[in-house]
Amino acid sequence: MTGQEEECPYETYKITGKLYISGEIREASLLIKEGKIALLGKSLPDMSAPTLELGRYEVALPGMVDLHVHMRGLKLSHKEDWYSGTLSALKGGVTFVADMPNTVPPTVTISALEEKLEEAKLNALVDYGVYFGVPGKLDIYLRALNKGIIGLKIYPKDYRSPILMKLIKINSERGLITVLHAEDPEVEDKNRLAEVSAVKYFSKISINHGVRIHFTHISSSETVNLMLISKLKGAKVTFDITPHHAFLNEKLRERLGGIAIVRPPLRDEESRVAIYNSLRNLIADAYATDHAPHTLEEKTSEKPPPGFPGLEVSLGLLTTEVLERKASWRIIDLYSSRPAELLNIPKGKLLPGFDADIVVLDTKRRWKVKGESFLSKAKYTPFEGWELRGIISKVFIRGVKAYEEGEIFVKRGFGKMYGGHFGEN
Ligand code: DOR
Ligand code: ZN
Repeated sequence: MTGQEEECPYETYKITGKLYISGEIREASLLIKEGKIALLGKSLPDMSAPTLELGRYEVALPGMVDLHVHMRGLKLSHKEDWYSGTLSALKGGVTFVADMPNTVPPTVTISALEEKLEEAKLNALVDYGVYFGVPGKLDIYLRALNKGIIGLKIYPKDYRSPILMKLIKINSERGLITVLHAEDPEVEDKNRLAEVSAVKYFSKISINHGVRIHFTHISSSETVNLMLISKLKGAKVTFDITPHHAFLNEKLRERLGGIAIVRPPLRDEESRVAIYNSLRNLIADAYATDHAPHTLEEKTSEKPPPGFPGLEVSLGLLTTEVLERKASWRIIDLYSSRPAELLNIPKGKLLPGFDADIVVLDTKRRWKVKGESFLSKAKYTPFEGWELRGIISKVFIRGVKAYEEGEIFVKRGFGKMYGGHFGEN
């Protein structure tokens, strides 16, 4: 370990109050010991450990796990870096981020991976994993696995790679996630049909070879349907959806121009409803931001790049649904326990044995989304002006208080890496 214990000694303490456990809110107590949840019970044996009593309107949730973010850094640090990106995550109640490989340089060589891991290690405030992209040669991937990557990301440009099947099989055998951006580069219509074609093609691969494939940012009603059909046929496929495809539709482009440009694009209302209901009815396997920061200058230019930040609104959008009684507390699972299972990390549940990553939510308070006040370097959002319910009052990571009411209590480098080798980097 890095010496971070000296600054933030792990304590033994209890948290008592309303806790989100296995799908419901229960009055109970947690005992936190050495960064893990050690015990859970209605009342814990009397012990001298100090106790944090939650307020009447407070609820403790597990820390959120985001399996699709772009922390940028390296030569894209003007857009975001590992400090600003994880600061943004922390404020949003996201205690684990999995970072994508489309950086400059791209994470497809060992030297680029090492450079990224060094930046992350020195700067991350929350826990993290790093995806590798499709490399030119198989042995590069095997070396990357030994460095503890969290999984593989496949972009449309990689579909024809001669080693693609080998990589998917290796991951599937090792229980590592393979995340696919579904957009067939050979289909002219870059929108719905390209997604449909890619989902059909890779679902068949999953069925024929018995391999696991995770489809990220599924965005249309047709492809949600196709995912369900593939699952019924026995494909080992899973999928996530984003906050923007669940809550926004294409009409926003007229009003916001470049700010609302994202890939896959915002769809029509029929698709938005399908994506929203795949979240609300727990049909999707996960909810992930695709936090993709660019500078405001770039976004308001002639050729705006796709993507926008999402980490500071994603949990707020979910808690608003719950507190307005439009959805059950269980939707929180799609942003905590379920992505943690997909990534194979001991996070996302307030149960003994799991990391003590805890978000304390004040359910009484409301707030208004203002891009200007984001901690991300990208200070704009297509959710500008939305009124959200539930304020994150405290965040604990591995038992250490990392955030309280706007104040940060951990230092750069506190975040710990998790991957194929369970965070021993
Ligand atoms: O909107 C997007 N932004 N989609 C992607 O696939 C890439 C991402 C980015 O890196 O900016
Ligand atoms: Zn992305």
